[in-house]
Amino acid sequence: MPFRVGVLISGQGSNLQALIDHFARKEGVPGPEIVCVASSRADALGLERARNAGIETAVFDKTDHSDRDARDAALGNWLDDHNLDLVVLAGFMEILSGPFIRRFEGRLVNVHPSLLPAFPGVNAIEQALAYGVKVMGVTVHFVDEGVDTGPVVLQEAFELPYARDMEEIEHRVHEIEHRLLPRAVELIAAGAVSRDESNPRVVRITQAT
Ligand code: GRF
Repeated sequence: MPFRVGVLISGQGSNLQALIDHFARKEGVPGPEIVCVASSRADALGLERARNAGIETAVFDKTDHSDRDARDAALGNWLDDHNLDLVVLAGFMEILSGPFIRRFEGRLVNVHPSLLPAFPGVNAIEQALAYGVKVMGVTVHFVDEGVDTGPVVLQEAFELPYARDMEEIEHRVHEIEHRLLPRAVELIAAGAVSRDESNPRVVRITQAT
């Protein structure tokens, strides 16, 4: 049985593309499979990337539902219909409701463009640059009910000893994200990721793949 992954996006979908490319099905080779992609916006470029890869897509725009809770319930039902092992937030730019997060607890990860707990929320790269940090990075974490507060699965840092323009930094961040997110999914799918019983905040990577 492949490890079934659903991806939620809102925009460009470059992280989705990295997942698609990384897990492109090779005949007879078991591994994670991206089975569905949902977007919070109909105009997300990532939807086209999914369609090009033959992946089922759907749009769950808040404005099509009575409120966010109703949208999240519909989204949760759609995801559950696909029997997913993992849901990946790859540039999903909206806060999900508590019931949705509890429904997928332990099966929901997010990629964030900072070394959490520094600079949670939107515009993390801008926040980090405005603060003047000399080390930046990327975090993949399990999602809990806070904003970017869940247990860290993987992080990777890079140094920023001298000023560079925003575009260059975004490029560097994306390059890391596109490696780190597929790696995290791969580790989770391999059963190599567990939570420390004495401190569930701590994620243990128990085996290298
Ligand atoms: C990424 O930088 C991710 O960390 C953040 O949103 C961005 C999404 O980019 N949460 P893309 O849509 O995957 O290109």
